[in-house]
Amino acid sequence: MNLYERVGLQSHGLHAQAGDVTYELMSAEVESLCSHLSKFSRLIQRFERSVDIAGIPGMPHESESACFHGGAFWEVIGDTFETLERRESIISADVLDAWFEPAPAVVQALERCLSFALKTSPPTAGEGMRHVIARARGVSKNSILTGAGSSNLIFTALRGWVTPSSRVLILDPMYDEYAHVLEQVIGARVDRLRLSRTHGYQIDRQQLRDSFSRGYDWVILVNPNSPTGRHLPRHQLEHLMAEAPKATRFWIDETYVDYVSEEQSLEVHAATSSNVVVVKSMSKAYALSGVRAAYLCASPGLVRETLRWSPPWAVSLPGQIAACKAFASLDYYRARWRETAILRGELQAGLEAQGWDVVPGCANFLLCHLPRSAPDAEESVAKVRARGLFIRDVTSMGTGLGKRAVRIAVKDRGTNQQVLDILSSALGLG
Ligand SMILES: Cc1ncc(COP(=O)(O)O)c(C=O)c1O
Repeated sequence: MNLYERVGLQSHGLHAQAGDVTYELMSAEVESLCSHLSKFSRLIQRFERSVDIAGIPGMPHESESACFHGGAFWEVIGDTFETLERRESIISADVLDAWFEPAPAVVQALERCLSFALKTSPPTAGEGMRHVIARARGVSKNSILTGAGSSNLIFTALRGWVTPSSRVLILDPMYDEYAHVLEQVIGARVDRLRLSRTHGYQIDRQQLRDSFSRGYDWVILVNPNSPTGRHLPRHQLEHLMAEAPKATRFWIDETYVDYVSEEQSLEVHAATSSNVVVVKSMSKAYALSGVRAAYLCASPGLVRETLRWSPPWAVSLPGQIAACKAFASLDYYRARWRETAILRGELQAGLEAQGWDVVPGCANFLLCHLPRSAPDAEESVAKVRARGLFIRDVTSMGTGLGKRAVRIAVKDRGTNQQVLDILSSALGLG
């Protein structure tokens, strides 16, 4: 009886006896059963290993707790890729893929050996890719670990280093994969450093410094941050880290740093220190989201440790070829990063003219609060989506963003104008 009551069933006081067995009539609303079940998540996880419970309506299951990554446009294009031409009918500004093409040398290299690249096992640990990245970034090859996108590195390296007893500080708002991995996957103890709209979502350096006295095992920063686009300059961050206890490790996600300046990266600092790890995606700044290429830069000791838990062939052969060719085409990318700043400025001016409150970001996206006359973020995102424009409702990416915050990716000049036109007509803006 106790077992049934614990999942929310209530007795009606009606019994029936059949031999030695007593039957009791009990009932519960499905909604109440589901909410009681959420207390049994570990047990449900055990069941899920042997039973497919995802099809049971209302049943909480693991995949529902994964964080949302955008990419809703695949529902229109079709994720079995039979109608890829539909990509021309949408504007994907909800994920932060680069607005420009990969460097011509990248595309040519893959075109020349596509069949070979598809059928051949790549260098096991991406040795050549590590070498090329190390040379370009001025660090030792032993300080570089490659991964199939930074998501892969977050799930392997961070999961290897952070344990359920670790104390971790993250930003709020911040790219929500971190809270998901730390809290839902690892079960670590996580505190949040709140960034407020009144301070333009800038990190309060004194507040960060003060928090160090709590003795965190890890401090995780996305710099420039997403979804805010705000950046803490390298020299300020280096000073802050020098004031932290030696046992505190820093994980700095520099997915968007190249849009500020390559010199702002902490890679060299990370390679020569024992407690700083820099993770760099090649998705957004090198237009390589599709091939999944990224790397982590840390001391050789830390890299050696993570190499042990990293799967072989983590980056595909097309990914390794593309990454090497991208680093041989830095002039091309530098020109695109400079152009992005101009395009971002134009998009910001266009949005402000419509009455948006735009956070002055420095990456390939803008965090914006909707004009008063527009509906809230959820409804606005749905309205523009009906016209083929995908932007991101970021209200769940932090506790203080409110219900009217959206993130819009910077596109090329013509597409930015289309974005502005759709926003204006769909949301009835000036
Ligand atoms: C801050 C940040 N880090 C990491 C990622 C993951 O990127 P990828 O796995 O494509 O390298 C993203 C993607 O949006 C991001 O915004």
